[in-house]
Amino acid sequence: MTHGRFITFEGGEGAGKSTQVARLLERLREHGIDAIRTREPGGSTGAEEIRNIALNGDAGRWSPLTETMLMFAARSDHLEKTIRPALEAGRWVVCDRFADSSRAYQGAGGGAPADFIETLDAAIVGDTQPDLTLIFDLPVEVGLERAFGRGLFETRFESKGLEFHERLRRRFLEIAQEKSERCVVIDATGDEEAVAARVWAAIEGRLL
Ligand code: TYD
Repeated sequence: MTHGRFITFEGGEGAGKSTQVARLLERLREHGIDAIRTREPGGSTGAEEIRNIALNGDAGRWSPLTETMLMFAARSDHLEKTIRPALEAGRWVVCDRFADSSRAYQGAGGGAPADFIETLDAAIVGDTQPDLTLIFDLPVEVGLERAFGRGLFETRFESKGLEFHERLRRRFLEIAQEKSERCVVIDATGDEEAVAARVWAAIEGRLL
């Protein structure tokens, strides 16, 4: 059996990733591709428990270093229990956020050193790098407004200032350039249909 493909969705708050993950899953299934949907932090029983610890509480609850390790602890369990077994069974895995979120949120946003994050990534993600990463990009104010519409400050990160979110956006775009072999920037402005068409164009162009 051939190995499945690993696709990650990344970007700031309110980019509409979750809706697009669901749409992509449907479209892949229509094409006869066996795919699973998962998310981070979370995606396995243990990782969902770590998610609750990591995302709840005061904004300053964890230092950037501690937070980075919590994210990678969750990621390690998720890779072992969910992602690698699915890929080995030939299934495609579509994951809402992955290691680039640690680079952006804990690294650029929180100030955790980049080499610390890369060391953890090499040890924990290793060869299980995404085949394709879609980086959803849109102006910070538009994203935050969309996120507010969903219910004010759902996570600790949504409640941080504009400048924090601008740093995230810049880092995601930088990652897209640094790792252009696996990353495609998706313009997340406009309606759901338009964004879904951009997502599918990227999948067709890179993976089919
Ligand atoms: P979620 O409600 O799933 O946010 P979104 O809908 O924006 O994806 O919450 C996930 C939060 O976790 C989000 O604010 C980003 C953050 N996060 C990190 O800070 N580091 C990470 O490595 C990951 C995977 C997520």
